[in-house]
Amino acid sequence: MLQADVVVLGAGAAGLFCAIEAGRRGRRVLLLDHARKPAEKIRISGGGRCNFTNRHAAPDRFLSANPKFCISALRQYDQFAFIKRVEKHNIAYHEKTLGQLFCDGSSQQIIDMLLTEAGEAGVELLLETSVETIERSADGFLLNSNRGDISCRSLVIATGGKSIPKMGATAFGYQVAEQFGLALEPTRAGLVPFTFEGDIKESCRELSGASVQAEARCGKGRFREALLFTHRGLSGPAVLQISSYWQEGQAVTFDLCPDADLFNLLKSGRAENPKQNVETLLASLLPKRLAQDIAAEVGVEGRLADQSDKKLRALADRINRWQVVPSGTEGYRTAEVTLGGVSTAELSSKTMEAKKVPGLYFIGEVVDVTGFLGGYNFQWAWSSAYCAGQYV
Ligand code: FDA
Repeated sequence: MLQADVVVLGAGAAGLFCAIEAGRRGRRVLLLDHARKPAEKIRISGGGRCNFTNRHAAPDRFLSANPKFCISALRQYDQFAFIKRVEKHNIAYHEKTLGQLFCDGSSQQIIDMLLTEAGEAGVELLLETSVETIERSADGFLLNSNRGDISCRSLVIATGGKSIPKMGATAFGYQVAEQFGLALEPTRAGLVPFTFEGDIKESCRELSGASVQAEARCGKGRFREALLFTHRGLSGPAVLQISSYWQEGQAVTFDLCPDADLFNLLKSGRAENPKQNVETLLASLLPKRLAQDIAAEVGVEGRLADQSDKKLRALADRINRWQVVPSGTEGYRTAEVTLGGVSTAELSSKTMEAKKVPGLYFIGEVVDVTGFLGGYNFQWAWSSAYCAGQYV
């Protein structure tokens, strides 16, 4: 039988980081993963350059049934601590936009950094290892795996969320929580493109590839970033961000030209330059294809002089207040994260330990804490993993 002080299940961002911290404290750590390679999501993240944190990480950039839960972990290990770590390993990085930090080179550098540190901390990594059952033992947990039985004092669940099943995502962490009687917040895909049916789908398809700086609003969410038309609907950072606030059946409002009050602009255009075509004026503000498409849809074409206030209002609303009801999202197939998960009410915000089950910890995406787009989800992985790593 394999024996360890700590078993960490899931060698992704959170699992690796926690294993390092526990190993540094002298614990004998086994890090298990069913995949053939560790940290596959780090590898594909940030378009292959890993947006590893965000300079502006703060509790208000995270969604959870308890928005205060993340405060302690983010204080214990913040973005600047992770940036120092990256610098210590001489990994060159840059800020792309809005505080988002990416490797100049490949995301493999972050994986290599974590694997090097794990090796130095004496962490034993066992890949292609599946755990069939978990039982409580006299002084910890007994795991039955394809490598035989494994016993440990502390068990850390870092198996992530449900997004991208073809990369090895499973609902295992949620099942473990249920087995031990811990409550779950309902899960759904987050940071995910919207899909549409009918006319909207058709016009998105025709506009596929066009993008605008837009403001997206839904519920309490409001984001000003790029919006991208795709063959299936809408994507781009503004859409991914707002998708985390969206519930099925809800409308989402997009301002496709957030720096301009279109109605006033159209009226003054009509007064100052009456012979100008509506599409020409719109094309100075929006991609030409989009301008033409919107003008045709609203039925406002030709010279500005020929348009009534009512028509200009309708056109302006279609641009400044475009309200649509997505038919759905692309789901876990492409979602960057899973919203919901192990209820934070069940966990200590200081240690990530289950209050009802001493020795059992949940970290990373499996917990009901989900960051905005832009490096926040990795920061949650590092912060929550760091906390658990100090106590396992
Ligand atoms: P993660 O999913 O990383 O790791 C879980 C591990 O558990 C995996 O190695 C998996 O194989 C293993 N596992 C699962 N079930 C198991 C089982 N039953 N038995 C054994 N092992 C099991 N975030 C960000 O901040 N910046 C970014 O640039 C990006 N980019 C990005 C791109 C894409 C395409 C996606 C899908 C996601 C992102 N993200 C991101 C989100 C980020 O990748 C995610 O939030 C973290 O990887 C979560 O870290 P975890 O360690 O919790 O789970």
